[in-house]
Amino acid sequence: MRLENKVAIITGGAGGIGYAAVKRFLEEGAKVAVVDYDKEQGEKLAADLGENVAFFAVDVSKLAEVKQMVEQVVAHFGTIDILVNNAGITRDATLVKMSEEDFDKVIQINLNGVYYCTQAVAPHMIAQGSGKIISTSSVSGVYGNFGQTNYAATKAAIIGMTKTWAKELGRKGINVNAVAPGFTATPMVEKMPEKVLQQMEGITSLQRLGKPEDIANAYLFLASDEASYITGHVLQVDGGIMM
Ligand code: NAI
Repeated sequence: MRLENKVAIITGGAGGIGYAAVKRFLEEGAKVAVVDYDKEQGEKLAADLGENVAFFAVDVSKLAEVKQMVEQVVAHFGTIDILVNNAGITRDATLVKMSEEDFDKVIQINLNGVYYCTQAVAPHMIAQGSGKIISTSSVSGVYGNFGQTNYAATKAAIIGMTKTWAKELGRKGINVNAVAPGFTATPMVEKMPEKVLQQMEGITSLQRLGKPEDIANAYLFLASDEASYITGHVLQVDGGIMM
């Protein structure tokens, strides 16, 4: 039980990697606040997963909703030990074809959302003198990716914010890290053409896409006491697609 009695907020917890993380954290003894704007899916999984899960229907790009959610999580579970900023979207197009709307939408969710959640949670962690903050970057944020001006900008920004927050919050007993997944088999990636996915497998050293559980295990490690001397780090979990 690596997270016994720890309270974790996992954003984007109703689908893909986030859902795998919710299940993994529960197995390790955590109480989990699942935050997602997919109300139907979130309510269903909360009902299925039992009393150590509470679902909050929240759009992380809406500051007022995020602030209210954090207060509700503290009221419900008593504290917040872990924040996993996992919610994210893509709206891909090459530079010349990208619309302002798609650029802004990705910035609002992937970048503003991470900032809003972390800023709302940090005072609670500072007050208790401990906490773990994990945000989901991407290999696109480290190396760039064709057709992902907006997405790569947000995922690079997460690395900058992670290192900044590690410097600001380390003295308060808070570890701040990022995970940079490679191509992982979730609804986000499954909408890509089969041919492209096969190409991605081909250039991955381990010759397969990631599983949601591969990424969830990295979140778990960084959230656990085993990672207590790791901060400001970007952990690539990508099967060796980028080195
Ligand atoms: P997904 O699309 O399968 O699941 C994302 C979840 O986040 C969904 O449940 C969705 O409802 C929720 N969500 C989206 N916007 C939200 C918002 N504004 N407020 C609240 N909830 C919201 O995506 P996946 O693949 O599980 O991605 C999880 C994270 O991993 C994202 O940050 C993504 O950018 C990142 N990532 C994924 C990779 C992949 O290959 N799947 C590769 C690298 C990074």
